[in-house]
Amino acid sequence: MRDKEIKKLIEKETKRQKSVINLIASENYVSDDVLKALGSPLTNKYAEGYPGRRYYGGNVVIDEVERLCQKRALELFGLSSDEPVSTRGDSSTRGGWYVNVQALSGSPANFAVYMALVPLGGKIMGMKLSHGGHLTHGHSVSATGKLWKQIPYGVDTATETLNYDALKEIAKREKPNLIVAGFTAYPRIIDFKKFREIADSCGAYLMIDMSHFAGLVAGGVYPSPFLYADVVTTTTHKTLRGPRHALIFCKNEFAEKIDRAVFPGLQGGPHENTIAAAAVALKEAMSPAFKKYAKQVVKNAKVLAEELQKRGWRIISGGTDSHLILVDTWMDGKGIGGKEASEWLEKEGIIVNMNTIPFDTRKPTDPSGIRLGTAAETTRGKKEKDMVKIAEKIDKVLRA
Ligand SMILES: Cc1ncc(COP(=O)(O)O)c(C=O)c1O
Repeated sequence: MRDKEIKKLIEKETKRQKSVINLIASENYVSDDVLKALGSPLTNKYAEGYPGRRYYGGNVVIDEVERLCQKRALELFGLSSDEPVSTRGDSSTRGGWYVNVQALSGSPANFAVYMALVPLGGKIMGMKLSHGGHLTHGHSVSATGKLWKQIPYGVDTATETLNYDALKEIAKREKPNLIVAGFTAYPRIIDFKKFREIADSCGAYLMIDMSHFAGLVAGGVYPSPFLYADVVTTTTHKTLRGPRHALIFCKNEFAEKIDRAVFPGLQGGPHENTIAAAAVALKEAMSPAFKKYAKQVVKNAKVLAEELQKRGWRIISGGTDSHLILVDTWMDGKGIGGKEASEWLEKEGIIVNMNTIPFDTRKPTDPSGIRLGTAAETTRGKKEKDMVKIAEKIDKVLRA
């Protein structure tokens, strides 16, 4: 690389990434092939429109790239575009699905779905940010909370998990246009069937944002939302281990609206180099090695949670079913705040993020907890025994 300044910074950051224990739940380490596709000449091409209907010439090859990414995305999650959806709840009925692969990241993907399916000013029922929802699930600081009205829901006070009866009451009372489930800081398995029943009870669309656990679904260690959802969005850069990008899966009947919301509604030219990189990651995720990886991610998270519990730390909801753990570091003043915890850990080479815990009594800028994830370190080959050592180290740092 001729640009010495950027070269040096890339080298510095690469070194940093290699030298730390990375427990950021939304990060991962992509393969060299994903990086090669990202840095390929595909970035030179403008391709506004969709395969076979572009606004620029010279897109014969690009069309093949985008179609391949779409094909792989459907295949990875056991979907097909041709058979119609018949009955729900039967694993053989996953036909009738389409996927848009152009959304530039998770937030614009979610935004596009709302643009397509919810009238401006309509109601989006989403998890509160402070209980583990994402900003784009209708939070007031996000455009999704300004253009639509969020009907907030949270977890149960006692269990710190979803109480589906309580959700049903809210849905019946508020009659949202769309319900979104799939979160940023919720460690447990989500009952998609119950969400479907709730959506049906009030005539709402059901959107599942599987950004965090998509790789676990692909690896067969987390339930698939496709039997129950109308739309499924996902980033490709978390447990799915791809580039920073997003996919929007929807039933065929919504395909045209979703496509139009992405382009020309929200974006111009798609990033075809990133689409190619996502295609590479999707193929990698079909391999037996990835299934093994996904299983190990969850095993590692369970061990890390248990080991922290053994050392006296309170784990939100009492454990995890996924890659993600929410730790109450404050423990009503007996421990330390999340901000301080993340700073102390970083000084010792452990990278985490501070996070609110449900019913947090502290501010989001200095909350009561930290969020941990095992996707990145599992990519680097870490196993259960390493999690024991990491828990030991975290405990030592937080008690210093
Ligand atoms: C559940 C969920 N949805 C959407 C997003 C947004 O993704 P992005 O940061 O790519 O916009 C995130 C990001 O963390 C997320 O956790």
